[in-house]
Amino acid sequence: MALGTCILGSICVGLVCAQIARRVLPWLYLNVFGPTLFGPKVDLRRLGDWAVVTGATDGIGKAYAKALAKKGINVVLISRSLSKLEAVAKEITDSHKVEIKIIDIDFTDGPQIYQKIEKNITGLDIGVLVNNVGISYPHPEFFIDNNNRHPEFLRDIISVNIHSVTHMCALVLPNMIAKKKGVIINLSSTAAVIPNPLLSVYSGTKAFVDKFSVDLQTEYRNQGIIVQSVQPGFVATNMAKIRKSTLLAPSPDTYVASALKTVGIASQTAGYLPHALLQLTIHLLGAVAGDQMARNFIFNHLSGMRKRALRNSEKKK
Ligand SMILES: NC(=O)c1ccc[n+]([C@@H]2O[C@H](COP(=O)([O-])OP(=O)(O)OC[C@H]3O[C@@H](n4cnc5c(N)ncnc54)[C@H](OP(=O)(O)O)[C@@H]3O)[C@@H](O)[C@H]2O)c1
Repeated sequence: MALGTCILGSICVGLVCAQIARRVLPWLYLNVFGPTLFGPKVDLRRLGDWAVVTGATDGIGKAYAKALAKKGINVVLISRSLSKLEAVAKEITDSHKVEIKIIDIDFTDGPQIYQKIEKNITGLDIGVLVNNVGISYPHPEFFIDNNNRHPEFLRDIISVNIHSVTHMCALVLPNMIAKKKGVIINLSSTAAVIPNPLLSVYSGTKAFVDKFSVDLQTEYRNQGIIVQSVQPGFVATNMAKIRKSTLLAPSPDTYVASALKTVGIASQTAGYLPHALLQLTIHLLGAVAGDQMARNFIFNHLSGMRKRALRNSEKKK
């Protein structure tokens, strides 16, 4: 009897250990050993002469543009303001021997902008597309209150965060498929994979980007195309309203240097170990204390941010 209990106990412990190993080892490979020991698994220079980066004049997009130029890849910078595009183009060509093309368009402007982009990139040997452009709420807010205050916001956020990603993929994929090589990096967000009340439209658009990327990857994996969904936590940019970088909110350059190491290793990634640990902590909180507890915790945190933002804007009036 005692021997039977002992064997049964050992089997149970073995099964639990196997389950833990099945989950922990892939996580360690994707977030720690893979990027540091082997990443990036593709030589981006060999995919084509050019990269295209949307939202390239600031923050994460500018950091991708600089990092790709540093590898010797020519870059097409796409953003809203011509003067900022010219300044970033100069900054890059001053320090790297590459060609830069700039395209000034506003992604809220409707479908005709894609004809302008197509005209400007036709004939370029494009190996990398970074779908980075994105906008978010001015501050966490209830869906209807935000819509009442900014009636054009719903259309704009979907145009910038969703239409840009799908249309840009449609523009560059045919040539990548013909060459049987290419990398598409789509900027999703940690907001896509954790509860994010009071930013529901933003997180919904980012969940779209994540899901679209994963399924697109499955469609074109056998044709030599890598599609990656990158899910940053906070990065010190204008959008995040964070000026000073910290370990949890790194500078865009630090973030992108880390995220680029995951290309070819992880098809969905936080891109930066502290952000991966943050996602893990929130998922564990949900698993241990219940999903509703995790949702309430984040709701209370974002409600506090909303109240502070509203108080500040009242003071400024
Ligand atoms: N920062 C974070 O904490 C964080 C976290 C998770 C995910 N992300 C995602 O990462 C991406 C980049 O974010 P970021 O923080 O680097 O943003 P950012 O600093 O605000 O920079 C956004 C870039 O996009 C351009 N842009 C904005 N609206 C545009 C429009 N309508 N048409 C054309 N260009 C436009 C901006 O150009 P202008 O300079 O002319 O405005 C700028 O170059 C976004 O997709 C965001 O959702 C960021």
